[in-house]
Amino acid sequence: MKDIFDRENEISLLKNSLDSPLIVIMGLRRTGKTSLVRSVLNEEKVTYIFLDMRRFENKEYIVYKDFIQVLEKEINRIVKKNRDLISHLQIRGVQIMGISVNFSWGRDKVELSDIFSSLNDWGEEKGKTVYIVIDEAQELIKLKGYNVLYSIAYAFDNLKKLNFIITGSEVRVKDKFLKLQDEESPLFGRTHIEINIKPFDKETAIRFLEEGFREQRINFEDKERVYDILGGNPGWLTYFGYVYIKTKDEEKAIVNTKKYAKKLLSREFCNFLKEGGRDKRRYVKVIETCKEGCRWKDIKNSLEALEGREINDGTVRDIVNNLLEYSFLIKEDKEYIIADKLLGEISDLRC
Ligand SMILES: Nc1ncnc2c1ncn2[C@@H]1O[C@H](COP(=O)(O)OP(=O)(O)OP(=O)(O)O)[C@@H](O)[C@H]1O
Ligand SMILES: [Mg+2]
Repeated sequence: MKDIFDRENEISLLKNSLDSPLIVIMGLRRTGKTSLVRSVLNEEKVTYIFLDMRRFENKEYIVYKDFIQVLEKEINRIVKKNRDLISHLQIRGVQIMGISVNFSWGRDKVELSDIFSSLNDWGEEKGKTVYIVIDEAQELIKLKGYNVLYSIAYAFDNLKKLNFIITGSEVRVKDKFLKLQDEESPLFGRTHIEINIKPFDKETAIRFLEEGFREQRINFEDKERVYDILGGNPGWLTYFGYVYIKTKDEEKAIVNTKKYAKKLLSREFCNFLKEGGRDKRRYVKVIETCKEGCRWKDIKNSLEALEGREINDGTVRDIVNNLLEYSFLIKEDKEYIIADKLLGEISDLRC
């Protein structure tokens, strides 16, 4: 695949899983989830509805109308190229206006399962599967008054020409949104394929930079140093390459990339703090403590030093679990480490 470097395993797993009703793709910010999904689906020339939930990241909560408007826009994009889909959308809550559709969200609202059924019928007629991609689906935890999981479960069980690809940058997408392990959840017990996208390891990151620079006919020596400073996140490395190619100034490219990553990660971290009414000083302290790896005891000690008093294990556990759940922290054996090296830059967080 031309535009995707490395990731052979992830690409073939995704391609080979396209007949599964549910694929979950997990990876930290900027690791390449969206580009992987889009390029595989484009290359396979399949029809897909792409629902970008990231747009809701700064909202405290969302309502059905917000979600349905994103869906409406995407369906209209498909309808433009496939007029025959319209005849399948003659359902309650859908107004057909020439060559576009209008979804109601008020009293006579369109039901998500009806839209899914329509897409499935169309898929059956055409003899093809239609894919629903929900990008950064954990944002849907904030959807009030409507549970999209019932419609997804209905589609999973009944609509054979409709498959789902769900991406998320947080562990929450599985445990708090899809809730596949939760007996109370509509999706309980459904099998799924899981694809994890990790930052590049050192060797891959260096090859990635090398190839990027070679394409630009630039000889760049300091690849290892760049990895040591920025880590292996393809998004940051891409940004670094972009600035370096423009300026030929390595320091400037590093500083700018750090600034860019810091802005993005800070926003995520601030949303995380705000969402749970969490204490900024404590959480930033844990991130600082775990920059180079840490143990439970180090976290507890650092929090006690911060507050000058004893802190009970339950409180420490809550803080650590929250950071794990939102994928800011990773646990490896008994060690904790920040999930992205540049998360270590947010010490002076302002939010
Ligand atoms: N394997 C790769 N090869 C080439 N470029 C890549 C690769 N992975 C990621 N990138 C680049 O890194 C940047 C981030 O990728 P992408 O937007 O796909 O990541 P993401 O995980 O969806 O990020 P976000 O969390 O912001 O949604 C993009 O500029 C993309 O082109
Ligand atoms: Mg993305």
